[in-house]
Order: sequence, then C-alpha cells, then structure tokens
Amino acid sequence: MKYIISGTDRPQSNTLQISQFIQTLYAQIGVQTEIIDLAKLNLFSQGPQYGSKDLSERLQDHVQKIGLSEGLIVVCPEYNGSMPGVLKYFIDHWRYPESFEFRPVCFVGLGGLFGGLRPVEHLQQVFGYRNAFIYPERIFLMNVWKILKDGEVTDPLMKDLLIKQTKGFEAFCKALQEAKLDALSRRK
Ligand SMILES: Cc1cc2nc3c(=O)[nH]c(=O)nc-3n(C[C@H](O)[C@H](O)[C@H](O)COP(=O)(O)O)c2cc1C
Repeated sequence: MKYIISGTDRPQSNTLQISQFIQTLYAQIGVQTEIIDLAKLNLFSQGPQYGSKDLSERLQDHVQKIGLSEGLIVVCPEYNGSMPGVLKYFIDHWRYPESFEFRPVCFVGLGGLFGGLRPVEHLQQVFGYRNAFIYPERIFLMNVWKILKDGEVTDPLMKDLLIKQTKGFEAFCKALQEAKLDALSRRK
C-alpha cells in the first residue's frame, strides 16, 4: 500500500482536498492508496511519545503503516516558510531507521507565490538525511486557493504535472521493487 500523507491538521484544509485529488489520480492508473489525514490523528492531544515502545494505539497503527508502505506521497502546505509543525511532529515519532531508509517518497507542495517550495525542500533534507529514495520530480501548487475548485485541480498545467508525477512515482517504486532495493524488499 502507498500512503498519501495530508500534512496538516487544519480543519477544511486545502491539503486534504489535494490529497484526495491525488488519490483519484492513483486510482485511475489502478494503484491503491490510503490517505493519512493528520487532522484525524489528533497528535498534539496525546503528548509526545518520541522513541517510546508503547505508542498510543492510533499513533502506533500509523507508524506501522509507514514502516510497511510501498511508497509515501507527502502533500505539504507552506506555513511560515516551512512545513506545519504537526507534520514534523508526526515524522519525529516514526521508527528509525526502518521507516525512512530506502523508502520511496515523493512530494507535493502547496502555498502562495512559491507553491510550497520551501517546505518541500525542508522535507527533502529530512528524508535525504534519513536515507530515503526521493523521487526527483516535485510539484509546487502556487496560489493553491485559485486552482482548487470543489476538490478538483482546475489549472491544466498543474493537473498534467500531478498526473505525470503519479505515473512517474509508480514506475519509480516498481523499478526499485524489481531491483529489490526499496525498504520493503530489504525487509524480506
Ligand atoms: C499558519 C499558516 C501559515 C502560512 N504561511 C505561509 C507562508 O509562509 N507562505 C505561503 O506561501 N503561504 C502561507 N500560508 C498559506 C498556505 O500555504 C495556504 O493557505 C495553504 O492552502 C494552506 O494549506 P491548508 O489549507 O491545507 O492549511 C500559510 C497558511 C497558514 C494557515
């Protein structure tokens, strides 16, 4: 299973709508995905559990999903020049090294003028530092509020780029699996 991480807990977030739109693109090429909606995880109400062997049930369940994922699609809005705190907080509860190392990951940013370029680059640093396989084509959805209508990306260029990334990331994950280089194959 591939997981699409909707990288904020803000109610009625654009990020969740974009994540759902991306999920339909994967479905169109026959790839099953599940969305991890950080708004549903309620992470801050549970208190920090960094490195704990006894994570709360919901967090444990999600950390396990990450560790068993074929690939991660991280959808991240820009908040004050970086990723939302809750996304980093979630990532900081993942098990190291198995959650990260050789895990295929791709990024979609959203925001204003720079379309989430800064948070995506910060995420690339985090995942690069932790030895993930980063898919090189990133998407930056500029002025996202202008190109998102009723859950659809209306800008043809942005839509095409998202479709291209979807197909490309799927091919990237498959190639890594065939070569037995990805995190899941290395567990076996
Ligand atoms: C707390 C906060 C900080 C933001 N900071 C930035 C910013 O630094 N740069 C930017 O381009 N947009 C910024 N924005 C705009 C968001 O990137 C944009 O509204 C995006 O749709 C937010 O995603 P969301 O709807 O999923 O919360 C900010 C929005 C919020 C809520």
